[in-house]
Amino acid sequence: MNDLAGKHIVLGLTGGIACFKAAELCRALVKAGATVQVVMTAAAEHFITPVTMQALSNRPVYGSQWDAREPNNMPHINLSRAADAILIAPASADFMAKLLHGRADELLSLMCLARPMDTVPLIVAPAMNREMWANPATQRNVALLKADGILVLDVGQGDQACGETGDGRMLEADEILDDLIAFFTPKLLAGQRLLVTAGPTYEAIDPVRGITNLSSGKMGFAIARAAREAGAEVTLVAGPVSLPTPRGVTRINVKSARDMLGAVLSCVDQATVFVATAAVADWRPAIAADQKIKKDGSGDTPTLHFIENPDILATVAQSPRGQRGASGEPGGLYCVGFAAESHDLLAHATAKRLRKGVPLLVGNIGPATFGQDDNALLLVDAHGATEVPRAPKLELARRLIANIAQRTLGSGQKS
Ligand code: C5P
Repeated sequence: MNDLAGKHIVLGLTGGIACFKAAELCRALVKAGATVQVVMTAAAEHFITPVTMQALSNRPVYGSQWDAREPNNMPHINLSRAADAILIAPASADFMAKLLHGRADELLSLMCLARPMDTVPLIVAPAMNREMWANPATQRNVALLKADGILVLDVGQGDQACGETGDGRMLEADEILDDLIAFFTPKLLAGQRLLVTAGPTYEAIDPVRGITNLSSGKMGFAIARAAREAGAEVTLVAGPVSLPTPRGVTRINVKSARDMLGAVLSCVDQATVFVATAAVADWRPAIAADQKIKKDGSGDTPTLHFIENPDILATVAQSPRGQRGASGEPGGLYCVGFAAESHDLLAHATAKRLRKGVPLLVGNIGPATFGQDDNALLLVDAHGATEVPRAPKLELARRLIANIAQRTLGSGQKS
């Protein structure tokens, strides 16, 4: 998706081995629709060549404040005025110290100092050895940079080029891209805490067998991501799926419907919005055998007896806070359900909304969504139904989040 279409990013590289990741980052930014202008310090040029960065960004790289290509001879002014954001990745310890003190003895720091602070945000992705990162001088600089309004991204953890292991690696290109997209997203859900369920559940028959369904979890994960982009604190209770956790989202892995209910109940009191996308098994085997059920050669087949699982959404929606949320009262929990149907979507979704006791129910056609990357939605509330036409799940998730934000705006949901 062209998430950064129309955005002009000045990508600054400073000296560090993580410069090799800046090549991948530059590609990712261009792929996301941004135009990218690369500016490199002399130290960065020891790690990666301007030729590489020029080829990937499709623009000549700048490296000197004396660059005569600019008619007014002021690249620090021209480059910073054109940017929607300046992103320094990697940002070395030395460069962050320079930023903090307003030093301006080469083009990149000069350009950062000269940027119009109100319109051109500065984002830095630190990269350094773990001792350098942990050093009080660096931590002090990070705190002061943040206080100056600079967005300092997290660092990664793991093996470092120096052979040591710890905090200080630069985030991966796709993580920085996700953070940048989130940065540009209007914070419609600021102050809200979303709890989302996603994926299938797994109901054990014995230690090696069980019953599950074809839910991929993609819609719920997309909703968690979109909510975080919109500024919410997000907890995602996920059934057994192998999807990566969206950036900045707290994930709780569960298997069965009862595990999922337990996880939801453990954190629902802190939530202001509950979105139940999980395809929870309606029934589970009444008894899960302790040992593998063996074929004994007699030709007899085992008989499974089922009992009903708890309805997580109905339990939460019909709690006092869920009911207060449905009527827009302060301190309430706004609950959103999903319905995967095979036919008569409007009728089934309308009936399900009332049965579950939720103010908003999102209908979709099960076989057309399970495992797919796109989907179409039908939003059903007390006033009727609105169609959201087929689109990638992330786009649908963003629309749904904007819709939920509108519904909860000023309703006292925020606490
Ligand atoms: O009843 P049905 O499974 O069709 O309802 C779908 C909605 O209810 C979804 O939002 C789903 O996450 C939720 N649900 C639940 N617990 C169940 C069954 C469904 O939370 N046991």
